[in-house]
Amino acid sequence: MLITHDVDELRARVGEQRRKGRRVAFVPTMGNLHAGHYSLISTAREYGDFIVASIFVNPTQFGVNEDFSRYPRTPQEDALGLEKHHCDLLFTPEVDCVYPFGAEHGVRVSVPELGDVLEGAKRPGHFDGVASVVSRLFNLVQPDVAIFGSKDYQQLLVIRRLSADLGFPVEIVGAPIVRESSGLAMSSRNQYLDAGQREQAAEIRATLEWVSKQLDEVLAEEQRRKDMLAEIESSAMQRLVDAGFEPDYVAIRSAADLGPVSAEVDEALVILIAARLGSVRLIDNLEWSIPTMV
Ligand code: PAF
Repeated sequence: MLITHDVDELRARVGEQRRKGRRVAFVPTMGNLHAGHYSLISTAREYGDFIVASIFVNPTQFGVNEDFSRYPRTPQEDALGLEKHHCDLLFTPEVDCVYPFGAEHGVRVSVPELGDVLEGAKRPGHFDGVASVVSRLFNLVQPDVAIFGSKDYQQLLVIRRLSADLGFPVEIVGAPIVRESSGLAMSSRNQYLDAGQREQAAEIRATLEWVSKQLDEVLAEEQRRKDMLAEIESSAMQRLVDAGFEPDYVAIRSAADLGPVSAEVDEALVILIAARLGSVRLIDNLEWSIPTMV
């Protein structure tokens, strides 16, 4: 595996592959890699012939009181792990390569509406930072396909929209959430949890499943009791409070654009949770569609 922070070298290698007619698959990350990231590399292998991963802790997607400076950085372990998972090239740009005019002064990309709700409302500016860095990385790497995890469901939708709207010739693929055996979704931030909190954190997944079961009942074929959704959301919030969390939201939304559920409830839905356990903020989601009658 080649490791480079140099754009000319990156472009030369990617260009070489392209000229051989090989498809370039890209997995952008912020490092501190775990099994969830390595599953993105395996998915990339299904969609491409030459796999490029990047590690760049992007300053513009962190709010002022967030964990940018203490975000875990483990470059050596990450490089070994990527090599083991057959990544072909690791791109590790410096800040001035990604933001030549400085992270605070560079052009910002914003995805209105989709980027303003839920996580966007709780973390103002977060998706501008994500959209800006992903646009820049797409321009630097010039991949054919890019893989993103579905744990960050809203991020995946924001990137799909950004790519479609700005006309990036990049196929966007969402890879399934990878979970610990307890059900906790894998995340670099899980390592801030102590052993007890890690067990407790599994309650987020249990709550998603509980909401999903409630939806099976109230939205079953004949009923479509959309009026029950707010009550289910607030019972789920209470369930999380009782389990020791400080929930930011439990939201049942249209899976396509995170808009409110339509009156007919004829679309796929997604249940999204963001909750704080001690000082650690966790997010997770579960997709739901009307069960088919047999
Ligand atoms: O999901 C992440 O790790 C980051 O938000 C991403 C997509 C690499 C952009 O910095």
